Amino acid sequence: TVQYSNDFLILPGMVDVHVHFRDWELAYKETLAGGAAAALAGGVVAVGDMPNTRPHIRTAELYQRRLREGASLPIIYRLHMGVPADLAELDLAKPRTVKIYPEDIAQFGWAHVKSLLQKCAELNCVAVFHCEDPQLFRDGERPPEAERLCVEKVRALAAETGARVHLTHVTLAETVETARGWATVDVTPHHLYLDTENCRDRGLCLVNPRLRAPDARKRLLAALAAGLVDMYATDHAPHTLAEKASENPPPGICSLDVALGLLLALWKRGVLALGDVVRLYSHRPARLLGVDVDPLAGTFTIVKLEEYTVKGEEFAGTCKFTPLEGLKAFGRVVATAVRGVVYFRDGEAKPLWPTAVSQPRGTPPSTYP
Ligand code: DOR
Ligand code: ZN
Ligand code: ZN
Repeated sequence: TVQYSNDFLILPGMVDVHVHFRDWELAYKETLAGGAAAALAGGVVAVGDMPNTRPHIRTAELYQRRLREGASLPIIYRLHMGVPADLAELDLAKPRTVKIYPEDIAQFGWAHVKSLLQKCAELNCVAVFHCEDPQLFRDGERPPEAERLCVEKVRALAAETGARVHLTHVTLAETVETARGWATVDVTPHHLYLDTENCRDRGLCLVNPRLRAPDARKRLLAALAAGLVDMYATDHAPHTLAEKASENPPPGICSLDVALGLLLALWKRGVLALGDVVRLYSHRPARLLGVDVDPLAGTFTIVKLEEYTVKGEEFAGTCKFTPLEGLKAFGRVVATAVRGVVYFRDGEAKPLWPTAVSQPRGTPPSTYP
């Protein structure tokens, strides 16, 4: 007898356009291998790593070196290039995407950003913005107005230069609406789930852009439910627990292990359709990074349809704590397959088809019947 089961779901591999795998001088926070482990545990087959490593990736040479290191990982590794002081570095590196931080805007000025967008229009790269105008930062505070002002400025520059723009980790429904027609946007699990009321730990809940008030968070969730958001991305940003508990905690939240579970929980709650989940965390981000996540090419994720509770200590990555702790997630990742190699929950990797049985045996006859 054949038994059928509705307990599992096969999805195309998940793609996260915004992660920080650290390594190099910040390897004590997370390593490339540790980040990849978190990705596989989270059903994520491809990532876009951020260039704010130490040193910051602002030259073609560093960009190529990091890509070579990423190529040895079990997942598909892509890298956003940092803003170079000399834009000729972009001609050499030919990155698909360039990441612009508020700190870059403060350091190099908007004129440099405009030249960069011109260059990107020429080279056909996408300008990925962490969009907060540093002009509105006051005494360590980063108000929502900083996002509004930056979006307005970038909108004008995109129109002038014709550059393609992606706005990452946007926090306001207003930004999602304003971006329509000229930029794509992604939202993070923490800005959808956490706000200034339900997350109060000074260090753990500190992130850039800041968590918003509950009503703003709910409007962002509504924009997602309305189908206006292009992508879902973690901004997985590991620090040590000691750093987060310190007097001067660094911003950043770890979530790569559980991001799919938190997105599927929105499906379970009826906020999203399953097709939205696939579009937001696989198809659309795959297009931005230029990766293939076709299950027919052996790249997919299998989840068991059960509810579970987010527990940092169960994370497979280097970072084992999160302010998302205790939330209900849905769909436990049991296997993640990348180009024909299946990684199971217990850490085992197996090829999709055992290669041994396909090896020829014996010698062919000298004449054919
Ligand atoms: O919270 C954040 N952490 N936001 C950023 O923009 C940078 C990131 C990090 O690298 O820790
Ligand atoms: Zn950012
Ligand atoms: Zn980030």
